[in-house]
Amino acid sequence: MKSILKSFIILLIAFFYAQAQENVESSCITCHVELDSASAIQVQLVSESVHNDKGLSCQGCHGGDPAEDDPDLAMSPKKGFIGAPKKSQVSKVCAKCHSDVDFMRNYDPNVSTDQYTRYQSSQHGLLLAQGDVKVATCIDCHGFHDVKKADNPTSSVFPRNIADTCGKCHADEAYMSGYGIPTDQLSEYKKSIHAEMLYEKGDLSAPTCNDCHGNHSATPPNVEAVGHVCGTCHYMQSEFFASSPHKTVFDEMGIAEC
Ligand code: HEC
Ligand code: HEC
Ligand code: HEC
Ligand code: HEC
Ligand code: HEC
Ligand code: HEC
Ligand code: HEC
Repeated sequence: MKSILKSFIILLIAFFYAQAQENVESSCITCHVELDSASAIQVQLVSESVHNDKGLSCQGCHGGDPAEDDPDLAMSPKKGFIGAPKKSQVSKVCAKCHSDVDFMRNYDPNVSTDQYTRYQSSQHGLLLAQGDVKVATCIDCHGFHDVKKADNPTSSVFPRNIADTCGKCHADEAYMSGYGIPTDQLSEYKKSIHAEMLYEKGDLSAPTCNDCHGNHSATPPNVEAVGHVCGTCHYMQSEFFASSPHKTVFDEMGIAEC
C-alpha cells in the first residue's frame, strides 16, 4: 500500500514538473541555444540577466512568438518580430517597458520611468536624434543580453565600473576625434581624490562620472552649475562659500564657486 502511494506521489510530482517545463518552454531558446557556440553564449547571458530574473525573455525585446517551433512563424513580423534593433532604434525598444509606468509598477512600485525622457534631453540623446550613432545609447552603458541591476557589483554601471564604461568612448582619442572635446576625463578622474576614495578606500559615496553628470541626462555641468553639483555633497563648504565675501565678487565676475 505504502509503495503504491509513493509511486503515486512521484507521478504527481513528475506531472507538475512537466507542466512547469511546458510553461517556460520557449522555441527561441531551444532553437538558438543549438545554432552555434556564439548563440549559445548569448542565450546564457540572457539567462543570467535581470530581465530573466523578472520572467522576461527574448520576445520582450525582439517580439515574435516563442510558442511556435517553425522559425518562419516564431520570427514573423506578423507576430511583432523586429529582429536585432538598429542603434538608432534601440533606446525606444528599452523604453517600451521602462517608460511605461503601469507596466513597471508591477515589478517594483518605486522604480523610476524617466530614463528615456532624460536621455532624450542629454547631449547623447540630442545628437542621436540628429543621426549621430557614435553617442551612447542604453546598451552602450548597460549592455543588452547581459543587463544587470545597477547595484550588482558586476554591472557596467556599478559605481566602481562606471568610469571605465564612460571611458570606453570618452578616453578613446580616435573614436572621439572630430568632436573637439578633451579625452582626458578618465585619466584625470583616476588621479583625483574622489577616485582614491572610491577605489582605494572603497567609499561608494565618493563621486564618479554620473554623480556629477547625471545618469541619463549626461551633460557637462555649465559653469554656474558646477558649484551646485559639488555642493550636493560638499554641503558645509558650499554653505560657507555662500556666506563668504567671495560669493558676491565671484557672482559679479560670473565665475563659478568651485
Ligand atoms: C527553429 C529555429 C529558430 C527559432 C524557433 C527562432 N529563431 Fe531566431 N534565428 C534563427 C536563425 C537560424 C537565425 C539566423 C539566420 C537569420 O538571420 O535568419 C535567427 C536570427 C534571429 C535574430 C537576429 C535577426 C537579425 O536581425 O539579425 C533574432 C533577434 C532572433 N533570431 C530572435 C528570435 C526570437 C525572439 C525567437 C522566438 C520568438 C526566435 N528567434 C526563434 C533560428 C530560430
Ligand atoms: C533586454 C532586451 C533583449 C533581450 C531580453 C534579448 N535581446 Fe537579443 N538583442 C537585443 C539587442 C538590443 C540587440 C542588438 C545588439 C547590437 O546592436 O549590438 C540584440 C541582438 C540579438 C541577436 C543578433 C546577433 C547578436 O548577438 O548581436 C540575436 C540572434 C538575438 N539578439 C537573440 C536573442 C535571443 C535568442 C534572446 C533570448 C534568449 C534575446 N535575444 C533576448 C536585446 C535583447
Ligand atoms: C551614458 C550612460 C547611460 C545611458 C545612455 C543610459 N543609462 Fe541607465 N543608468 C546609467 C547609470 C550610470 C545608472 C545608475 C547607476 C547608479 O544608480 O549608481 C543607470 C541606471 C538605470 C536604471 C536603474 C534605475 C535608475 O533610473 O537609476 C535603469 C532602469 C536604466 N538605467 C535604464 C536605462 C534605459 C532604458 C536607457 C535608455 C533610454 C538608459 N538607461 C541609458 C547609465 C546610462
Ligand atoms: C519587456 C519589458 C522590458 C524591456 C523591453 C526592457 N526592460 Fe529592462 N527591465 C524590465 C523590468 C520589469 C525590470 C525589473 C525592474 C526592477 O525590478 O527594478 C528591468 C530592469 C532593468 C535594469 C535594472 C534596473 C535596476 O533596478 O537597477 C536595467 C539597467 C534595464 N532593465 C535596462 C534595460 C535596457 C538597456 C533595455 C533595452 C536593451 C531594457 N531594459 C529593455 C523590463 C524591460
Ligand atoms: C558609445 C560611446 C559613449 C559612451 C559609452 C559615453 N559617451 Fe558621452 N558622449 C559620446 C559622444 C560621441 C558624445 C558627443 C560629444 C560632443 O558633445 O561633442 C558624448 C557627449 C557627452 C557629454 C557632453 C560633452 C560636451 O561638452 O558636449 C558628456 C558630459 C558625456 N558624454 C558624459 C558621459 C558619461 C558621464 C558617460 C558614462 C556614464 C558617457 N558619456 C558614456 C560617446 C559616449
Ligand atoms: C566631481 C565632479 C565630476 C566628475 C567625477 C566627472 N566630471 Fe566631467 N565635468 C565636470 C565639470 C564641472 C565639467 C565642466 C568643466 C568645464 O566646463 O571646464 C566636466 C566636463 C566634462 C566633459 C565635457 C568636456 C568639454 O570640455 O566639453 C565630459 C565629456 C566629461 N566631463 C566626462 C566625464 C567622464 C567620462 C567622467 C568620469 C571618467 C567625468 N566627467 C567625471 C565634473 C565632473
Ligand atoms: C557624490 C558626492 C560628491 C560630489 C558630487 C563631489 N564630491 Fe568632492 N568629495 C566627496 C567625498 C566623499 C570626498 C572624500 C573626502 C571627505 O571625506 O570629505 C571628497 C573630497 C573632495 C576634495 C578633497 C577635500 C579634502 O578635504 O581632502 C576636494 C578638493 C573635492 N572633493 C572637490 C570637489 C569638487 C570641486 C566637486 C565638484 C566639481 C566635488 N568635490 C563633488 C564627495 C563628493
